[in-house]
Amino acid sequence: MNAIINNWIPNNEEAPALFEIFERCFPLFPSTDHKNALKLITLKVKGHEDGIFVARVHNKIVGFAFLRKSHTPSSARLVGGVLPEYRTKVFGQSLLSTILNYAKKKNIHTIITTTFESYLDSQKFLCDNHFEEVDRIVWSNRSLDVDLPKKLFDTLARVEESGVQFLNGIEFEKRRSDWDQKWWKLQMAVLKDVPSTIPFSDTPFEEWRPLIDPPFWERRNVLFAVQEGKLVGNLILGKLEEGVINIEPYRRRQKTPPNGDLNSIKGQGICLSKEQWCQYNFNPKSSTKPNIGPQLSFGFSGCGCPN
Ligand SMILES: CC(C)(COP(=O)(O)OP(=O)(O)OC[C@H]1O[C@@H](n2cnc3c(N)ncnc32)[C@H](O)[C@@H]1OP(=O)(O)O)[C@@H](O)C(=O)NCCC(=O)NCCS
Repeated sequence: MNAIINNWIPNNEEAPALFEIFERCFPLFPSTDHKNALKLITLKVKGHEDGIFVARVHNKIVGFAFLRKSHTPSSARLVGGVLPEYRTKVFGQSLLSTILNYAKKKNIHTIITTTFESYLDSQKFLCDNHFEEVDRIVWSNRSLDVDLPKKLFDTLARVEESGVQFLNGIEFEKRRSDWDQKWWKLQMAVLKDVPSTIPFSDTPFEEWRPLIDPPFWERRNVLFAVQEGKLVGNLILGKLEEGVINIEPYRRRQKTPPNGDLNSIKGQGICLSKEQWCQYNFNPKSSTKPNIGPQLSFGFSGCGCPN
């Protein structure tokens, strides 16, 4: 069986096919409404719009690869996959060679990509193609049926006494006209703070802004910690899917608030998840040496991470 590899010209009809492949390749990631596939792909590939490639068999798209901007102009992030029933037919290799040629022409010298520890075939594929592991993201989960530790409620009370208010995205938006700018600044600081060997660079506000509107983020699922009118922390819950909700990386701003533990925002997040009747939380944390102690104290258990 042969596949034709060609440039994909973004179009509404075929965009959902790319999403379907992505979801089948990475079922652990939360899915996005297929209606918005083109919009999301367009946002993600900004700067590399002409570098989307697909593998077609009898005109059916069975694999894809595209690049996203990374921390320097000479590096890029590769996103790609092949439908499981079309694997080991060298389609992945052909897509990779095509995208590497494209990258070379664009003066890109470093390609970063992500796969799961449990995907042995993908790891072998990447290893054979001279990728080396530089970082790990550890996901852990907890059942919402298990009570939160009592200690957490004491911390929460202390934090609230110190003047910290927890607001959801809808409430926060009503508080100040520059709410989205504040959120963006905090979000960039948070992501920069995630310990990782891969440097982080800010996403420009104009590129980030469309992503906080539904269907990408539900504003009622975002928690903000505000102290004396200042935004000091936030936590984003993803979309509820089959009883699972994802907590995005979260952090408090350095050194604020002075006398409270903003880990309690996670407690609030769990309470909010509970209100939505979901059963589990996933919590990604990125680091070469992940510190999962705080996760464990919240009743999360490690998935594929050192105990
Ligand atoms: C990684 C991935 C794209 C490879 O696609 P593929 O079409 O199966 O890859 P190919 O057929 O071109 O395989 C090329 C090499 O991968 C290895 N490989 C792939 N599947 C394999 C399998 N089932 N068993 C053994 N080796 C395998 C082999 O080394 C093979 O080379 P060889 O035949 O010369 O020994 C595919 O496994 C996938 O979609 N994985 C999930 C998404 C993902 O992890 N993407 C990685 C980041 S881009």
